[in-house]
Amino acid sequence: MKGILLAGGHGTRLFPLTNIISKHLLPIYDKPMVYYPLSILMLAGIKEVLIITTMRDLPSYKGLFGDGSHLGITISYEVQDQPNGIAEAFLVGKEFIGDDSVGLILGDNIFYGQGLVEILRSATQRSEGATVFGYRVKDPHRFGVAEFDEDYKVISIEEKPQNPRSNVAVTGLYFYDNKVVSIAESISPSDRGELEITDINKAYLSMDQLHIEPLGRGFAWLDTGTHNSLVDASRFIETIENRQGLKVACIEEIAYRMSYISAGQLKELAKRYKNDYGEYLMSIAEQDGEDFFTVKKQNLHKTVERIIG
Ligand code: G1P
Repeated sequence: MKGILLAGGHGTRLFPLTNIISKHLLPIYDKPMVYYPLSILMLAGIKEVLIITTMRDLPSYKGLFGDGSHLGITISYEVQDQPNGIAEAFLVGKEFIGDDSVGLILGDNIFYGQGLVEILRSATQRSEGATVFGYRVKDPHRFGVAEFDEDYKVISIEEKPQNPRSNVAVTGLYFYDNKVVSIAESISPSDRGELEITDINKAYLSMDQLHIEPLGRGFAWLDTGTHNSLVDASRFIETIENRQGLKVACIEEIAYRMSYISAGQLKELAKRYKNDYGEYLMSIAEQDGEDFFTVKKQNLHKTVERIIG
């Protein structure tokens, strides 16, 4: 499975913060926002990632991640200069996707919660159809909204409805089989002139191939769309990290826990940062040692889950 991380747009709602910098590079406590969605793709087991961004911001992302080899993954880049909608990612990324299935995550979506790794893995293992994630919110009219029957089967899905039929928002994380490319080619722009991801999901719903996984109240799906929610997200991460002494969405740690890089490589990354982030990476590399996964390989799943959450 391939992974696409959408980090385009002009972030107008966050001006002047985003006058000259991509929204998805703004800090969420101790790391750039984009680390959080990238960590989700990595935890899903995806090793080939395409970052789609604007021409203006492309050099920043390349500077931040390069080709991804320091994380044991492959990162490539494409440009989406006009805000033509989320679903355009599958047209921009058509060649990258090739014959594969694909996971898409929006660059401003932050997920946190126990059990997430297993939920992600089961979504990536589904060979046909689409998987989206439902999360209860108090203001559903701001999102894609799903309506269900009593078996939690989706009946309808609407983009930013004025009169939402449920409180369940569809989050910005989606997994699709390869049909998504031809579906994206077949849909037309909405009234706001965008290729809507909700229209893709509707197409899967009409084929009876839209699966929705509930993310219950123990999960955090955080908003970063306003100045206040940006600060709230930072505080949330700060609180969790400082309480546990473990970092959330630390992509270097995840690369190591997933066995994409060795303890020695993690130590090299740690040396790049002469601060507490570097000390944290060093402590992970030292405390677990090279043998960590050799001993516990069969429990990789549980171990990653336990430590990263
Ligand atoms: C987009 C999608 C919407 C989804 C949301 C999740 O909205 O169109 O269906 O619920 O992302 O973050 P946007 O952020 O573009 O307003």
